[in-house]
Amino acid sequence: MRIDFVTLFPEMIQDAVRPSILGRAQSSGAVQFRTSSPRDFATDKHRTVDDTPYGGGPGMVMRVDVVADALRFLAPPENARIILTDPRGERFNQKAAEELANANHIIFLCGHYEGIDERVRVHLATDIFTIGDYVLTGGELPALVMCDAVVRLLPGVLGDEESHRDDSHSNDGLLGFPLYTRPADWEGHGVPEVLKQGDHGAIARWRRREQLRETRVRRPDLFARADLTADDIEVLS
Ligand SMILES: C[S@@+](CC[C@H](N)C(=O)[O-])C[C@H]1O[C@@H](n2cnc3c(N)ncnc32)[C@H](O)[C@@H]1O
Repeated sequence: MRIDFVTLFPEMIQDAVRPSILGRAQSSGAVQFRTSSPRDFATDKHRTVDDTPYGGGPGMVMRVDVVADALRFLAPPENARIILTDPRGERFNQKAAEELANANHIIFLCGHYEGIDERVRVHLATDIFTIGDYVLTGGELPALVMCDAVVRLLPGVLGDEESHRDDSHSNDGLLGFPLYTRPADWEGHGVPEVLKQGDHGAIARWRRREQLRETRVRRPDLFARADLTADDIEVLS
């Protein structure tokens, strides 16, 4: 998969994708990250990329022409996903990440300042996503959040292919189960006995009950779309 970031602050992206799992994903060839700056496509001597809003008001708006030229230079294939980061977009979630993990080429358009000229949204983007109902200074962090959620789903990126199967919001749509490791006793706080006894059937049942319990206590709204078995329904009742 190739992932491009069109951003005025490429160093924010480069620093974030270098370490840890994203860095290893790039070294292994599972993904290729690139950044490009609309500033390189500005035509005046000040390399202007923004201007005051038509109609007045505070702040500066990123220009459509420099964003379009940066995008054109990337020569995206027909089926590329061109994702505009925008607080007015569709809420990004695990289902969207799973769907995007099938793409060959993703391009994130990162707004900054007061936002991007609306013509980017209407004429250039294929998808418009927000990461939540709050406003950040720029689209770099939202783009990185989405990129991370997608890349960890690519084959071979996580050490154990199973390791995202039981994650919160994956597959069955429930929250994940609680995890413990050594020490078995930390300042008087122990670990559930069942996890230490090696009975894999009992462990699986305990984990499933915990998923159901956690979801009911913290996020009952998730049950509306959860994939429950007859056993799950009996446990819940
Ligand atoms: C300060 S925000 C602009 C907010 C815009 N004036 C509004 O009211 O919707 C600047 C840029 O940050 C990005 N951004 C900020 N919050 C975001 C969020 N929750 N999700 C996705 N992108 C966001 C977008 O690219 C946006 O163009």
